[in-house]
Amino acid sequence: MRLNEYTTLGRSGLVVSPLCLGTMTFGTEWGWGADEKISRALFDRYLESGGNFIDTADGYTGGKSEEMLGQFIADGGLRDKIVLATKFTFCADPANPNAGGNGRKNIHRALEGSLRRLRTDYIDLYWLHAWDTVTPVKEVVATLNDLVQQGKIRHYGFSDTPAWYLSRAYTLAEKEGKDRLIALQLEYSLVERNIEREHIPAAQELGLGVCPWSPLAGGFLSGKYKREGDGGSGDGRLEKTKDSGNPALKKFSEQNWNILNALLEVAKKIGRPPAQVALNWVATQPGITSTILGASKLSQLEDNLRAIDFSIPAELRDRLDQVSAPASIHPYMFFEPFIQRMIHGNAPVSRWSPARSSREKAMPESAGKEKVA
Ligand SMILES: NC(=O)c1ccc[n+]([C@@H]2O[C@H](COP(=O)([O-])OP(=O)(O)OC[C@H]3O[C@@H](n4cnc5c(N)ncnc54)[C@H](OP(=O)(O)O)[C@@H]3O)[C@@H](O)[C@H]2O)c1
Repeated sequence: MRLNEYTTLGRSGLVVSPLCLGTMTFGTEWGWGADEKISRALFDRYLESGGNFIDTADGYTGGKSEEMLGQFIADGGLRDKIVLATKFTFCADPANPNAGGNGRKNIHRALEGSLRRLRTDYIDLYWLHAWDTVTPVKEVVATLNDLVQQGKIRHYGFSDTPAWYLSRAYTLAEKEGKDRLIALQLEYSLVERNIEREHIPAAQELGLGVCPWSPLAGGFLSGKYKREGDGGSGDGRLEKTKDSGNPALKKFSEQNWNILNALLEVAKKIGRPPAQVALNWVATQPGITSTILGASKLSQLEDNLRAIDFSIPAELRDRLDQVSAPASIHPYMFFEPFIQRMIHGNAPVSRWSPARSSREKAMPESAGKEKVA
């Protein structure tokens, strides 16, 4: 796979590269990340390599990420060439409950700010950043459709939402003849595979693109952190945010160190850096469209852009699959081979699918059965 092997994002006409440039690291306002000079170098390098898909959010580095992008895009006259994605949801003013969330009032407020900072009059892909637990799905779908009609956004997608909520939004829009969400953005890596339970099957059923975030678990899977008692230490974001209390940044667990050890072994056997192997694994998993890279140094981006030009040999991939397999829990254990055989009998039964990935095609029908038999 190459960076300029573009594909449509879900069932839309929006064409994106298999690696997206994440820009949560653009700006040093959060105590980590890259200054403007390095951010510009990351932006330039990604585009020179053939990438066309850039991800930001209204709240990243307090708006600095969007401001820098707006500047870089304007300086290069690049607006039409870039698929520009940003997000709304997070609170811009803790004293104002309508300055966050997914209600109509906040979506309009957030979008106006993003358009101003990004120096553009439209967003290619507008993400709902996270489920706010309160806004009716009908209000979200209606508001985002109005924005499509007004030409302020071209498409929309959902990040960090329950599968039932996104399925309801999709179905409601479909039934009402409205524009449907086209993609999902979710955390996915060797140490975070929970989306395989519901979100990947939902995306495959509904024809949604999937864009994984934190594919290196915030840098953990680069191998630069060392175990220290119950925690870990190393030079990077996870060290700096260790006491933040943010659950999404807690990566130093027994299970994760085991996965990292297996990754280090596999990387050594293949002769590739662990970060490349971890990214390759994510980018080639079933259902994945475009994996969102994060980098705070040019050398990291250079390394990561080479992550999709090789294949992980099958037996080493099996090792990674097994060590990182999500726990078998209710009700999902009912959908695994052991109980499915009690439903269908011994002959393998698979669902018809119009576009099975090459990896799925390559998998024998019996794959995985031996694990529970
Ligand atoms: N929708 C959401 O809720 C959500 C949440 C998070 C992120 N995102 C999006 O996803 C993007 C990527 O997320 P992420 O930054 O967490 O991705 P990531 O790939 O898990 O982590 C990136 C970090 O890993 C380290 N790193 C990267 N390449 C490396 C290499 N080759 N060698 C050593 N260290 C390396 C760097 O950390 P150091 O800077 O510490 O060196 C870098 O900042 C973000 O920019 C954002 O666009 C979305």
